[in-house]
Amino acid sequence: MAVIDEFVKSHPKSRELHERALNHFAAKGVTHVGRIWDPFGPYMTHAQGSRIWDVDGHEYIEFRNGHGALILGHGHPAVVKAIHDQAIKGTLYSASHELEIEWADLIKSMVPTAERVEFFACGQEANMMGIRLARAFTGRTRILKFEENFHGWADQLVAPRAPGAVNAEIKVIPMRDLRILEEELATGRYAIVLTEGGGAHMAGQVPWEPDFIRAVGPLARKYGTVWLLDEVVTGFRDGPAGWGGFMRLEPDLTTFGKSVAGGMPAGVLTGRADIMGMLAPKPPPESWISHSGTWNAMPIVCAAGIAACKLLKDGSVQKQVNEMGACLRQTGNRALQESGYNWRLYGRSIIHTYFGALDFEVDDAGNPPTRDIKKMLAGSEEKHKLGLYLLHHGIHTHQGRMLILSVAHTKDDIEKTVDALVKAIRDAVADDAIGGLPA
Ligand SMILES: Cc1ncc(COP(=O)(O)O)c(C=O)c1O
Repeated sequence: MAVIDEFVKSHPKSRELHERALNHFAAKGVTHVGRIWDPFGPYMTHAQGSRIWDVDGHEYIEFRNGHGALILGHGHPAVVKAIHDQAIKGTLYSASHELEIEWADLIKSMVPTAERVEFFACGQEANMMGIRLARAFTGRTRILKFEENFHGWADQLVAPRAPGAVNAEIKVIPMRDLRILEEELATGRYAIVLTEGGGAHMAGQVPWEPDFIRAVGPLARKYGTVWLLDEVVTGFRDGPAGWGGFMRLEPDLTTFGKSVAGGMPAGVLTGRADIMGMLAPKPPPESWISHSGTWNAMPIVCAAGIAACKLLKDGSVQKQVNEMGACLRQTGNRALQESGYNWRLYGRSIIHTYFGALDFEVDDAGNPPTRDIKKMLAGSEEKHKLGLYLLHHGIHTHQGRMLILSVAHTKDDIEKTVDALVKAIRDAVADDAIGGLPA
């Protein structure tokens, strides 16, 4: 474990902070499960563009990008200016203001299915309201969701029997079996069916089969179930109309988060006026849903969201980020292939790592080198270890599982990343931390 020992030795301040944090935060000293590293991760001090720096003075090429929120990179000048200018004018009015209308106008101009817009503090809140609306609208209670699809940690959003969750009304079905989907919907008991944009885990570690996802809307409609497309990650990453627009889907409800607010905390629910009309106060009291929320449409978040959406509206940012993703995928896979390692990269603007048997090479669209879902999800321990080796080589990834791109990444960043990737695998194989060569 030579490299891990070196990592520990060269990150003394991070180690000290990690030891302090263990006294406060129950989840191995971190404040988000996705921030756990073994033995510990770097503690960051500042970030700009495609770079991030830690307390021990190390610089990393940044591929976590705010859990996917920062498609514009760290500290985009237009977003920083909007936040700064609004901070001076007031962060929270707890009253109506013009910025919320301007942000909603922009979102509606980008998303063809957005007849109405509602703002929340985060993505999962928007999903929870989607469920509540669907239940009130249909008069049904059951929730249908798909394996591996993530929508948040609340009771209604996690798998049945998750510790502490009361969620007997949820059924989870496989991602690729239309017969099971139709059988369930045909029971006429489901208020809502939820799907992640792109596929399961951050825009498609397990991508949807296009024919399957295109069948969800018509089937849901046939059986009177509301379809919610969760674009919290994909929203405005794949194009100005989201992944749904890119795939020409027509969900009843769509949720956004992350990129939609330029890196500030927010969730957005858009969709059909008749369903969202359940939020309009009318007698009797039990005929409508009351939506409060201290942070709804707070001016400083709206200002950042407007700045971000203006930049995302014409699609040029997404085009550039997707091209950079293709560049990372192609040059990375060429180098991995030449080195003989059974690792591959796939995906679009969020690149997923793959470790295992290669059924075929990654294609131009960035599909994984297998159709087997278990294989796509395998190797998380090896990926985590690779993530630490990548840190040692100056690359900050999502635990070695994902490299999330932003418009700030350059060709030079990509070349350095590919070089570091091959070196990190070489070192990890030499240390016996991971396997590396095909059987
Ligand atoms: C697809 C998806 N939906 C919903 C959420 C929850 O969003 P938030 O963390 O803003 O509540 C996430 C978070 O990563 C997500 O990936």
